[in-house]
Amino acid sequence: MDFDELVLRRHSTRMFLPDKPVPEGLLNEALTLAMRAPSNSNVQPWRLFLAAGDRRVRLGAALAKKVRETPPPTLGLPESHSHLRRQLGALLYGAMGVARDDDAGRWTAQLRNWDFFHAPVAGIVCMHRDLGLPDAIGVGMFLQTLLLALTERGIDSCVQVSTALYPDVVRDELGIPDELTVLCGICIGYADPAFAANSINTPRNPVTDNVVFLEN
Ligand SMILES: Cc1cc2nc3c(=O)[nH]c(=O)nc-3n(C[C@H](O)[C@H](O)[C@H](O)COP(=O)(O)O)c2cc1C
Repeated sequence: MDFDELVLRRHSTRMFLPDKPVPEGLLNEALTLAMRAPSNSNVQPWRLFLAAGDRRVRLGAALAKKVRETPPPTLGLPESHSHLRRQLGALLYGAMGVARDDDAGRWTAQLRNWDFFHAPVAGIVCMHRDLGLPDAIGVGMFLQTLLLALTERGIDSCVQVSTALYPDVVRDELGIPDELTVLCGICIGYADPAFAANSINTPRNPVTDNVVFLEN
C-alpha cells in the first residue's frame, strides 16, 4: 500500500469481530515500527498495556460494571470546537440508524466504548506522570505510527478517550502503576463489515483553517 493510500485508509472502527484474533506476529511488527516514533530527547514516553484473551474479557466486564454504576461525565469541549463533535455524532448515529432523540439507542451505542467495541485486543496508553505536554506529543506520534502500521497489515483500530475516564478500573485490571498517567484506550482487531458506521468517511477542515503559512 502506498503511503497516501495508507493514511486515507486508516479510520476508526467501532464494531469489531470479537472472534477473529489478531496474529501476535503482525501485532509485534506494528509495535516494533511504532517504537521508531520521534520523541523529545528520545525519552520514548509511551507506555502501552495490551490485554487479550481472559484478561481482555475481565477488563471489559469490569468497565461495563463500573460505567453502569457511575455513568461517564460528558467531556467538556470549548464552544469553538463543539460543532465538530455534533457533526461527528450526526454522522455516526445516522450510520447506526439511531435517531437524535433516541436516548436509549445512543446509550447502547456509547456503552460499546467500554467493551472496546468488542475488539479482541484492548490497550491502555499511558505516560509517566512527571512528563509534560511535549512528551504527550511523542505519545501521539507513537500512536499514529502504530495505527498506520496496523492498517498496513489489514488490522483495524480505534483510539478512545472513553476508557481512560475510569483510570482506577483499568489500573486494577492491568496492574498499571501509580507513576503512570492513563491517557487513552486503543481497540485492535478486525472490523465487522456488516456494521455501516465502520465505513463512514469523517470530514476534515480545509488545510487553511488549521495551518497558517507566512512568507513576508
Ligand atoms: C485521543 C483520541 C480519543 C478518541 N476517543 C474516542 C472515543 O472515546 N470514542 C470513539 O468512538 N472514538 C474516539 N476517537 C476517535 C475519533 O472520534 C476519530 O479519530 C475522529 O472522529 C476522526 O475519525 P477517523 O479516526 O475515522 O478518521 C478518539 C480519537 C483520538 C485521537
